[in-house]
Amino acid sequence: MDDDIVIVGGGQSKFGKRKGLGIRELAFEAVSDLMNDFNMGIEDIDASVIGIAGEEFSGQGAPAAVVVDEIGMVGKPTIRVESACATGSAGIKTAYGWIKAGFYDTVMVVGVEKMTSVSSARATELMARAGDVRWESPYGCSFPGYYAIMASAHMKEYGTTKEMLSSVGVKAHHYGSLNPKAHIQKEVSLEEAVNSIPIAYPLNLYDCSLISDGAAAVVLTKASLAKKYTDSPVRIKGVGSGSDTMEIAHRKSLTSLSGAKEAARRAYKMAGVTAKDIDVAEVHDCFTIAEIIATEDLGFFEPGQGGPAALDGQTYIGGKIPINVDGGLKSKGHPLGATGVSQANEIRNQLLGKSYNRQVEGAKIGLSHNVGQSGQFVNVMIYDRV
Ligand SMILES: CC(C)(COP(=O)(O)OP(=O)(O)OC[C@H]1O[C@@H](n2cnc3c(N)ncnc32)[C@H](O)[C@@H]1OP(=O)(O)O)[C@@H](O)C(=O)NCCC(=O)NCCS
Repeated sequence: MDDDIVIVGGGQSKFGKRKGLGIRELAFEAVSDLMNDFNMGIEDIDASVIGIAGEEFSGQGAPAAVVVDEIGMVGKPTIRVESACATGSAGIKTAYGWIKAGFYDTVMVVGVEKMTSVSSARATELMARAGDVRWESPYGCSFPGYYAIMASAHMKEYGTTKEMLSSVGVKAHHYGSLNPKAHIQKEVSLEEAVNSIPIAYPLNLYDCSLISDGAAAVVLTKASLAKKYTDSPVRIKGVGSGSDTMEIAHRKSLTSLSGAKEAARRAYKMAGVTAKDIDVAEVHDCFTIAEIIATEDLGFFEPGQGGPAALDGQTYIGGKIPINVDGGLKSKGHPLGATGVSQANEIRNQLLGKSYNRQVEGAKIGLSHNVGQSGQFVNVMIYDRV
């Protein structure tokens, strides 16, 4: 128990098109939210880990340094981490390792991204460079393209339909409409989602996550010190990671992410639980097909059953496994570096019973699944109350 690593505080900025705000201000907003949440000051924190996926969005080289300045952590040890869209969870894992290694007792992780300072076309190009720049992105493959390939393969292999894909987007927008920090807070019907504009066949607008600005922050410490800060620490009970080939042409399967399966296997083993024990999950729904594949890779549904389960409402609150009940990347938004930290915050709130009108009643064990690129970096974490 004393060796356990726990989260003792969390905060998040509003996600969205945050005109006039850069990475400094977004990070400050998240850290201010965190400071309101628990009984500590910035002086109690020994070190920081700053997750920022891309510096070309903000134009600032070494962008972590300006964040450290703004949040009042100058002079203390810090590092920038980057694992594409899995940057936030890579930050949490780094902090976890630092505390376990005995470097520091209490570490703050801040994930932040400012994406809307550039046009969608430019953002698409910058993100596409996280795919292989030798054989893929120069020939037109961008992220909607990668996931469109996976969606087509899933449809061919398992009979997954466009309605099944769209139902994931409908659920995301339903829960996003209940989340005041979500980028888009509006309900969408299945008909609207199925008929929304095509982006990369078979993915339409309501199959795609948002290009967002935002930040999120958490503080990790040892369980033995947690009482100083909170009566309700949330333990990180399992951490697992995996990876995959850079070129998707080299993959054995296009209907699952081998790195995600490996990450899940490791996290379940470390936590001593199985998929059946999870009460609520945050999964990386950068595209609707990604959520369907995630629910299969994590063992919530058999391969090929993720689509029918989504259409049947099994991933809503009250279904077999509530997924992304904060709106997910699709409706809450996907500011790359912030996403994994925001997922941890949502699970923490769920386990503390603080998710209000989106609460999964009695949730005791939660899971987050954060994917970088098209599966090259994956971190799965499992949480409970101590
Ligand atoms: C789908 C996508 C291309 C749309 O971008 P766009 O055409 O430039 O859209 P705009 O920013 O001009 O917004 C136009 C409208 O659509 C809405 N919109 C934009 N993206 C949306 C999305 N993904 N889902 C729902 N609505 C969206 C905007 O809110 C805006 O609505 P408004 O006119 O009522 O304000 C963009 O959202 C995208 O690329 N998403 C994927 C991001 C990605 O790949 N992330 C990495 C994952 S690994």
